[in-house]
Amino acid sequence: MITTSRAAAVRRQVAAWRRRGRAIVFVPTMGALHDGHRRLIEAAGGAGRQVVVSLFVNPRQFGPNEDYGAYPRALAADKRICREAGAALVWTPTVGDMYPDGYATTVHVDGLDRHLCGAFRPGHFDGVTTVVLKLLNVVQPDRLLLGQKDAQQAAIVARMIADLELPVRLTVVPTVRERDGLAMSSRNRYLTPEERRAAPALRAALLAGAALIRSGERRSARVLDAVRRRLAEEPLFSPQYIELVDAAALAPIEALSGRVLLAAAAFLGKARLIDNIPLTVARGSGRRRNAIGDST
Ligand code: PAJ
Repeated sequence: MITTSRAAAVRRQVAAWRRRGRAIVFVPTMGALHDGHRRLIEAAGGAGRQVVVSLFVNPRQFGPNEDYGAYPRALAADKRICREAGAALVWTPTVGDMYPDGYATTVHVDGLDRHLCGAFRPGHFDGVTTVVLKLLNVVQPDRLLLGQKDAQQAAIVARMIADLELPVRLTVVPTVRERDGLAMSSRNRYLTPEERRAAPALRAALLAGAALIRSGERRSARVLDAVRRRLAEEPLFSPQYIELVDAAALAPIEALSGRVLLAAAAFLGKARLIDNIPLTVARGSGRRRNAIGDST
């Protein structure tokens, strides 16, 4: 496995692989890798493919009161995980490499950041799209892998790829979970043992909502109420949002049909946890069990 901090070295290596007919699959990360990332890197690999992983804690996607300084950094462990998971190249740019003096460009995808996390993290997704486009321009992969756990991020990046006709195919990988259902996250490291025991309640609350939809409920308000009530059973959680949105437009919907996303963010001590369930809902209410739920 090659490790480099230099964009020029990444470009050279990728070009060499391409000349040999290899497909390049790219997994951008902020490091502090866990088994969710590992699964993403493993899923990226395969015959004829070279997997490139970036490790970069991107300051532009953290708000002034967010955890940029405290975000866990674990370079040696990250490299080991990348190697074990089959990465061929790990790119570790510095902040100065990515945003040198005079850097002035921001990529903004309009509208899709109005709800969900975007409503509470102004500028966050501009930071994400800016860094992802820059990373893509250096790596120039055939395929980009993102996780469903960050559903809004994946939808916004999908929009950017389509709008700008970027020559890359996006694959969104299902959320990888702990045995008790908690979505794996670098921020789970912030949880005290007591908070960790409470943490699966977020997933459980979303599952209660998904079950209601499966049993025929099509009114968002009813579903969201049920999720709220279930989450309130765990008093350590302070919910930030619980929403049902159209999966592509990411705008709230009142009557459920088509591809929808049931998503929530909640604080548990110092950690802000997010989770979601993508669902395909058949039109109209009914007693039939006619909603197909994704198992993520
Ligand atoms: P990070 O939070 O490190 O996540 C890197 C990738 O791993 C993202 O695509 C994320 O959705 C995915 N991921 C994280 N936890 C996961 C889980 N439990 N199951 C499946 N996939 C999971 O997301 C970012 O970094 C940054 O915003 C980035 C895209 C790198 C831009 O800075």
